Amino acid sequence: MARPYLFGTNFKMNQTPAESAAFYQQLVASVQIPPDTHLFVIPPFTSLSAVKDVAGQPPHRVWVGAQNVHWAPDGAYTGEISAGMLIALDVDLVLLGHAERRRYFHETDVDLNRKVLAALGAGLRVLLAVGETAEERSFGVGGETVLRQLRIGLHDVQTEHLGQIQIAYEPVWSIGAGGTPASPEDVVPIAKQIRSGCEELFPGYGAEVPILYGGSVDPSNAGTFTAFQDIDGLFVGRAAWTVEGFIATFQAGYQGHVTGDG
Ligand code: PGA
Repeated sequence: MARPYLFGTNFKMNQTPAESAAFYQQLVASVQIPPDTHLFVIPPFTSLSAVKDVAGQPPHRVWVGAQNVHWAPDGAYTGEISAGMLIALDVDLVLLGHAERRRYFHETDVDLNRKVLAALGAGLRVLLAVGETAEERSFGVGGETVLRQLRIGLHDVQTEHLGQIQIAYEPVWSIGAGGTPASPEDVVPIAKQIRSGCEELFPGYGAEVPILYGGSVDPSNAGTFTAFQDIDGLFVGRAAWTVEGFIATFQAGYQGHVTGDG
């Protein structure tokens, strides 16, 4: 089965509801979406309702994602949001395990596994982010770190939910304004390890899981990653925070995808 091509952005703690809705509306009006391609935007929780209002009923041309979810269906968890609450807003996808959640909010792989299972069970697509820190890389355990995050994060996931899962490989050292852009030589071997890890977890099905790359991606380097067979798309921050930047980075990545070996 051919894997879809995926491209999207996470706005992190930026944008008012009106700003997110305007971005979404302008994006949908101006982007051409090729077949077998899915685009997504992940605004803050407070923007979801406004974006959903302009997106209309599902299926959404551009998927709308949330930046986190709690594992419990309800209860005494002040400040948290459940999968059922996201489903009630017609949210298409939830991002779990972003490096900033792991680092600043101390989310562990075990916490993330509970969140993954809750989100899948509620019917949400999951974008699970994995990636090693600069320190882990310097000790030569980048691949091991990523495989540990993958194995624990996807523990007990049933094959029937595999179609809801996508993995974003984002080396922590390459993310954000202080990050060092990675090269395909850094990224491709780990993407291959993620692919083998998926195959080991889901024998016969691992090849179906889309793997995205993220970390300092922009129009100048997007196509260098997506030219590789194991990289099925891009997960972009800063470069995609304007509609023009989103489209330019998407198109550069898509061009690499169709002209490369992927
Ligand atoms: P960046 O962010 O593209 O701005 O480096 C990526 C991310 O945080 O996912």
